[in-house]
Amino acid sequence: MDDELLSKGFLDVPIDLSLDLFQEINKLKKEKNAVILAHYYQEADIQDIADFIGDSLALSQQAAKTDADIILFAGVHFMAETAKILCPDKKVLLPDLNAGCSLADSCPADKFAEFKLKHPDHLVISYINCSAEIKALTDIICTSSNAEKIVESLPREQKIIFAPDKNLGAYIKKKTGRDMVLWDGSCMVHEIFSLEKITKLKNQYPDAELIAHPECEAAILEISDYIGSTLGLLNYSKKSDSKEFIVATEAGILHQMIKESPNKMFLAAPPNNSCACNDCPHMKLNTLEKLYNCLKYEQPEILLPSDLIEKAKKPIIRMLKLSAEFGL
Ligand code: 13P
Ligand code: SF4
Repeated sequence: MDDELLSKGFLDVPIDLSLDLFQEINKLKKEKNAVILAHYYQEADIQDIADFIGDSLALSQQAAKTDADIILFAGVHFMAETAKILCPDKKVLLPDLNAGCSLADSCPADKFAEFKLKHPDHLVISYINCSAEIKALTDIICTSSNAEKIVESLPREQKIIFAPDKNLGAYIKKKTGRDMVLWDGSCMVHEIFSLEKITKLKNQYPDAELIAHPECEAAILEISDYIGSTLGLLNYSKKSDSKEFIVATEAGILHQMIKESPNKMFLAAPPNNSCACNDCPHMKLNTLEKLYNCLKYEQPEILLPSDLIEKAKKPIIRMLKLSAEFGL
């Protein structure tokens, strides 16, 4: 493959418009023994073509156990990187290398190493939304599904550095009462919700439950009826007796919520700006067309140095082992 075609971070190859991309992608998947793992924040078409849709924990568990030769990760860079760390012998593809993450970017490895030096007696727990370099500086990785249980599993007197999400960190610190210092990072999507507009919407729909991701700011979490990871929110919306929900997380999850509970009403929580959407601009860089080219030409591929893989793998394996013990 010509390097120039990859210079934009994705394969800029024209696609025959008469092709049925669903059919073609399914054909390529079989031919190449590839699996498509998609996060709930992907566009609806990508969720529908995926072999497995999940939150960050479920996707890393799925990557760790797949027997496919190729993992096509429909998500963002740190997720594909995690799959590569867990499966260094497999080919891991990401449709668009520009699909980054504001939260991962808010924690540069050199600055974090300095921060760690200031807290030498602390154990480092990092949210999976971080680079491989940060993972290599971490003792245990967590996701929003298992963060509280992982913190609780440590001895009470253990001091903890929690990185990079200050909102998730503050939420866990408050719930567990543990001694935690927080890295000052955040997600641009979950910080955008407007307390004022949500309060107005709650007044307009008094029977609606507000369900929120713990990456949201404390003021939003305080007025929420349920707080959980993306999968937690989906499961809650299915089992709750409520028929109306205001959903404070990335809008992609609404596709599965509507599919699973077609008779319930889901409203995306309004953000703090004039735009009516709360899509993650990184997640939404992946398109069905980019995914097709990526699988066809097996590019762009995630590659990492083997020493970094070795170091970054340990805290992820610790998380997977603990999650299995918790029954997650
Ligand atoms: P979860 O998949 O753990 O819910 O995290 C949400 C997120 O922001 C992923 O980028
Ligand atoms: Fe990162 Fe936030 Fe987008 Fe998730 S939703 S990928 S945390 S910027």
